[in-house]
Amino acid sequence: MRVLALETSCDETAVAVVEINTRRILAQQVYSQFAEHAAYRGVIPELASRAHQARLPALVEACLHGAGLRVADVDAVAATVGPGLTTALAMGTSFAKTLALVADKPFLAVNHIEGHALSPLLAPDGQALAEAFLQRDAPYILMLLTGGHCQLVRVEAVGRYTLLGTTQDDAVGECFDKVGKMLDLPHPAGPAVERLAATGNPHAVALPRPRLEHPLDFSFSGLKTAVRDVIGRGDLSPADVAASFQHTVATLLADKLARALEANPTRFAVVAGGVAANACIREALETVCAARGVAFVAPPLALCTDNAAMIAYAGGLRHQYGLDTGDLGIRVVPRWAL
Ligand code: KG4
Ligand code: ZN
Repeated sequence: MRVLALETSCDETAVAVVEINTRRILAQQVYSQFAEHAAYRGVIPELASRAHQARLPALVEACLHGAGLRVADVDAVAATVGPGLTTALAMGTSFAKTLALVADKPFLAVNHIEGHALSPLLAPDGQALAEAFLQRDAPYILMLLTGGHCQLVRVEAVGRYTLLGTTQDDAVGECFDKVGKMLDLPHPAGPAVERLAATGNPHAVALPRPRLEHPLDFSFSGLKTAVRDVIGRGDLSPADVAASFQHTVATLLADKLARALEANPTRFAVVAGGVAANACIREALETVCAARGVAFVAPPLALCTDNAAMIAYAGGLRHQYGLDTGDLGIRVVPRWAL
């Protein structure tokens, strides 16, 4: 089964064709709208939507060409219908519905978060995970780290997710972005914070770690305030602030993953979402898994940040498992939990 997918939930215009049974990404294109939003230091929904509209036709054409296919050759057309920015979601969704209608193919409505959750199955080193998970239903622990979410999830099977813990305030990517803004870095600041942190001392300052009622929940607002105070004192270099912040987040996430694995022993643990691109965080999580004999899978960088391959794969799997993926009548769902 080959699925063509469109992802337009935020500021990445992404298109991909994935062969579901072989887990092969036949082609993928991502246009990141940095230039469109740079002056505003945040994402402007209307500009995002217009940029999606302008870019989608050429990206779809390039993807099909790259895969050596015509629309008639794919088996379904998928799109992210939520969660995300309403007008941005609507652009990709209408485009995908039109393609599906014209080519007479099923339309698959995909939850963006489910795309991230299943993305490690597409990783080159995710073969063992994918086989165990898809054939024998071996569950895995997912640490989902995006700009909008920070969650620990037990992925039982395609379409079956148990929430173990979540953030009580900011998402982890949001926290990186806010700290980056305080340090005058361009939005989205996660990658810039990581680059700056590479030249700083991670032990320059001890930052507070939240005490929470539920041990698998997260909170980042106290950390954010502490970073603001440290910057205000003015006695540390921006690189030392960035490195200490990143180190604190990595330690905190590693500690949560360790607790989650203790309470839910599984053979596999994965990290997904844009923040999973952070090498310091990946390393900290990998160390936790190695110490427990748990196989750790992190998608390659291009599959961590927003992309359409994960949307194609999630849509294709749901379709194959006979799970409802909506129809042409489905509307966008701006807020939609996994
Ligand atoms: O998953 P994603 O691409 O979009 C959402 O669905 O939210 O995640 C975007 C988030 C942004 O907050 C961005 O700053 C963060 O991921 N991010 C990073 C890195 N790369 C992206 N955070 C820390 N280190 C990185 N290398
Ligand atoms: Zn995302």
